[in-house]
Amino acid sequence: ASPLRSLAETKGKYIGTELTGNMVNNSTVTSLAGAQFDMVTPGNEMKWDTTEPSNGNYNFGPGDRIVSFAQSHNMQVRGHNLVWHSQLPGWVNGVPRNQVQGVMEAHITTEVNHYKGKIYAWDVVNEPFNEDGSLRQDAFYNAMGSGYLADAVRTAHAADPNAKLYINDYNIEGVNAKSNALYSLAQSMLAQGVPLGGIGLEGHFIVGQVPSSMLANMQRFAALGLDVAVTELDDRIQQPASGASLQQQAKDYATVINDCLAVTRCPGVSQWGVGDADSWIPGTFPGWGTPTMYDNNYQPKPAYNSTATAL
Ligand code: XIL
Repeated sequence: ASPLRSLAETKGKYIGTELTGNMVNNSTVTSLAGAQFDMVTPGNEMKWDTTEPSNGNYNFGPGDRIVSFAQSHNMQVRGHNLVWHSQLPGWVNGVPRNQVQGVMEAHITTEVNHYKGKIYAWDVVNEPFNEDGSLRQDAFYNAMGSGYLADAVRTAHAADPNAKLYINDYNIEGVNAKSNALYSLAQSMLAQGVPLGGIGLEGHFIVGQVPSSMLANMQRFAALGLDVAVTELDDRIQQPASGASLQQQAKDYATVINDCLAVTRCPGVSQWGVGDADSWIPGTFPGWGTPTMYDNNYQPKPAYNSTATAL
């Protein structure tokens, strides 16, 4: 069978995976990832707690190793991420409010500049919204108000004008209060000339619960002139997984791929992890797991077959 990446490229899309430092040291993972996927997102290695663990001290070694793996396998890279309330080192929360903007801009400028020319797209701001559509009151919001998002995107653009600049979030795949708020924010940013380029729908689904409004939601963002990518796809199943749940998971993967194929401005779909053994799900959602296209031994599951068929 043709690798997923060849199938995706035939349709003008990419098919991506998340990789961490441990995974690029595992030859089973690297040979499968390099053969099947053409986009890589570092799982943790470009986050603030790794890249700037103390003020002004930068550490790009872990991210560089993922980028060089990607380059040597002709894969592109999604940079993940620049500004996020989580995996944020404690020192940032201790910065006086009147200095937070300077700290944020320095972090963005230094990281984007380091990777300049090597990054297809940046998740500039990650998970800025609460479920009701209000903005999270994190260090950035508390210091700068809602304008921090535009400032972050403009700062990233100045450092690498060729990277697509995204806002990325979860539970915004369908039409709901959270995605409505993001839609309004995106509209107003574009009206102000902010160089926002895309919306990332994380896609951390529960089996059988891909929203039926996902296609319409993608289309409304695309109609604003934005790209809309699925950035962190997984589809979790309560353990132990039944055969029926694995068949439903296969349908869910096909739905997501078909939604992307139906939207010209959807550049591709990225899965979070290569196989079930890599997934963050069992550690974060106890009792849940087996959310990817490959099983614990990196053998293809029904979701792999449905993805290949959809592509
Ligand atoms: C997760 C990683 O996979 C874990 O290893 C880490 O402990 C926590 O973060 N949304 C995101 C990702 O944007 O960065 C998260 O990744 C998963 C949820």
